[in-house]
Amino acid sequence: MRDFTSSALDNIGFSGIRAIFEKANRLEAAGQKVVHLEMGRLDFDTPTHIKEAAKKALDEGMVHYAPNLGLPVFRNAVRDFIKKTIGIDYADTEIIATIGATQGAFLTKAAFLEKGDEIIIPTPTFVSYLNAPLFFGAVAVPLHLKAEDGFQVDPDLLEKVITPRTKMLVLISPHNPTGAVLSMEVLERIAALAQKHDFLVLSDEVYDRMVYDGEKHISIASLPGMQERTILLNSFSKTYSMTGWRLGYIAAPEKLISPMIRTHQYVVGSANPFIQVAGAAALNEPQTCVDDMVKELSSRRSYLLKELDPRIVTAKPGGAFYFFLDMRPTGFTAEQFVDRMLDEGVALVPGSAFGAGGENFVRLAYAASVEDLAFAAEKIKKVLG
Ligand SMILES: Cc1ncc(COP(=O)(O)O)c(C=O)c1O
Repeated sequence: MRDFTSSALDNIGFSGIRAIFEKANRLEAAGQKVVHLEMGRLDFDTPTHIKEAAKKALDEGMVHYAPNLGLPVFRNAVRDFIKKTIGIDYADTEIIATIGATQGAFLTKAAFLEKGDEIIIPTPTFVSYLNAPLFFGAVAVPLHLKAEDGFQVDPDLLEKVITPRTKMLVLISPHNPTGAVLSMEVLERIAALAQKHDFLVLSDEVYDRMVYDGEKHISIASLPGMQERTILLNSFSKTYSMTGWRLGYIAAPEKLISPMIRTHQYVVGSANPFIQVAGAAALNEPQTCVDDMVKELSSRRSYLLKELDPRIVTAKPGGAFYFFLDMRPTGFTAEQFVDRMLDEGVALVPGSAFGAGGENFVRLAYAASVEDLAFAAEKIKKVLG
């Protein structure tokens, strides 16, 4: 039989995170204790009132196709929430309910990128951003983030990689895998470049609520002249510990929503209605559950800042729930360190899984209990000697 695989997949492999996860699972199956700090998945349950809202919606028969854009109750909740938190206005027709931010990001690329277009991606980055542009023949242009700059995007370097073919820039803030939170100064300079060179910004804000030590999340969409060229992407996965529910949204002006909804209707049609009702409840109800979770994450982060060897914490993460640990001062390569740690029962991810610039780093997700983090901290000390 011929090989029927599309050549669009030639450079698209499996995620490096998945490889570690599977290796860790094999060790566990063989009876070894493994603390999972490799997954970007919180260890909390989804808050009860959100589950109850989904159950009620199912009991009320919300089991049929929803409108392409999503249910009005969901889009209104998103619109009101964005107004309250970011301070900008969207019409309810400028919001699409998506199957997580992953589908939202894919939709954005499918709607705007074509062969030869360039999309600038600060790297290291969340894995799906590296690969998705390749489906459309677009060129992913890496922009190196450096620990020495606190993993902030360097606007001078950005300007150097902009060409007439640049169509889009991806911003993730707070950032996966580094935990960096983009500052107002950097965002203002990026906004000026986006307007000068006329490109779109895909702003991934899935960790928007997870900021620490007085850091502030700022959406680039709220800067003057930016709403019209920003595709704001968010998700319920992290904020409400709902990774398995698969719910997110896109907010963008009508002109950008139109090509995306045309694509969306042929990819998934619409997001699940009873899950959108749960999402609306998450946004409309008091945010105490989020506050409590962020408080817990903040104390885990403080614990690790105290316990980890300061030589490997070259950039203190201001947001999300990751440390991007610097292996350069240790004499270990990232891969060696990850292997040694897995032998000790702690699963981490080598930074190379997140693209260029991640090679000398290791990502640790503090999505585990303090007891598990204490176990991991002990093992890190033991391995580093
Ligand atoms: C920056 C970033 N964007 C998007 C996602 C995916 O989110 P979702 O579960 O909503 O698809 C992740 C998951 O780790 C992420 O880190």
